[in-house]
Amino acid sequence: MEKTVIDFKDVDVCQRDVKVLGDINFSMSKGQFIYLIGRVGSGKSSLIKTVTGEIPVYKGQATVLDFKLNGLKSKYIPHLRRKIGVVFQDFQLLTDRSVYDNLAFVLKATGWADKNEIRARIEEVLSMVGLSDKSSSMPYRLSGGEQQRVAIARAMLNDPEIILADEPTGNLDPDTSSNIMSIIHELSQTFGITVLMATHNYNILKNYPSEILKCEDGKLMKTVMPSEEDLTNKLIKFGLSRGYEYELVYQTVMRMYGPRF
Ligand SMILES: Nc1ncnc2c1ncn2[C@@H]1O[C@H](COP(=O)(O)OP(=O)(O)OP(=O)(O)O)[C@@H](O)[C@H]1O
Ligand SMILES: [Mg+2]
Repeated sequence: MEKTVIDFKDVDVCQRDVKVLGDINFSMSKGQFIYLIGRVGSGKSSLIKTVTGEIPVYKGQATVLDFKLNGLKSKYIPHLRRKIGVVFQDFQLLTDRSVYDNLAFVLKATGWADKNEIRARIEEVLSMVGLSDKSSSMPYRLSGGEQQRVAIARAMLNDPEIILADEPTGNLDPDTSSNIMSIIHELSQTFGITVLMATHNYNILKNYPSEILKCEDGKLMKTVMPSEEDLTNKLIKFGLSRGYEYELVYQTVMRMYGPRF
């Protein structure tokens, strides 16, 4: 039995005074991969922010690694964050400096001082994502997929136990999305990293099947993948058929309405 790394019991997830998700229960063990789905505004990002300690927990019991999130003192939050790699939809790279300096910045901010160790670690993480030759590039010279690979390399810097990915392929075309997903999946398998990934991407759910949690009507629940037939029928109801821009429209429909089944 792998150790539990995330454990939420009867937790309310709130944005300011508003309850976004109530009484949620879920846990993740080391190396587990869980998808988070749900329509726009259903609480996926809020749940992810609760796991990182950005949103405090006032009701229920939440534990991430060895940290109890209830009443977690702000001085401990950096220690928690060091063990969590986060990947966002919009990459969030610093635009004024090179790939190398983006990564060096994070290492220095998290206590790395030795120049040679910093260089060696940056080379390691860039090679994990196949970008060894882009170290001196500026982010705006890179494609969206390459920028996201830098963001994944950044998430790997401190050898995280958990990766939280908030729609990491949301800004990418289908081929690039599939490449990004294969990198995240492989890193998770190779290093036993626990991954919680919010996504609207049906192809990812289909090609890398794993457990799915859905945010809906203020609750978090287990669910299963909708069948392709169900979804196609839904699209037909929207007056669409397979063909031109199907993929794009499909993702939009998934995003707006979520897989309702
Ligand atoms: N900083 C904030 N302050 C107040 N309310 C917020 C804040 N961020 C989000 N909310 C509200 O919390 C609810 C959940 O938002 P959240 O961003 O978690 O949804 P989501 O499932 O990630 O949506 P999306 O698919 O658009 O990313 C929404 O009603 C949203 O308006
Ligand atoms: Mg979100």
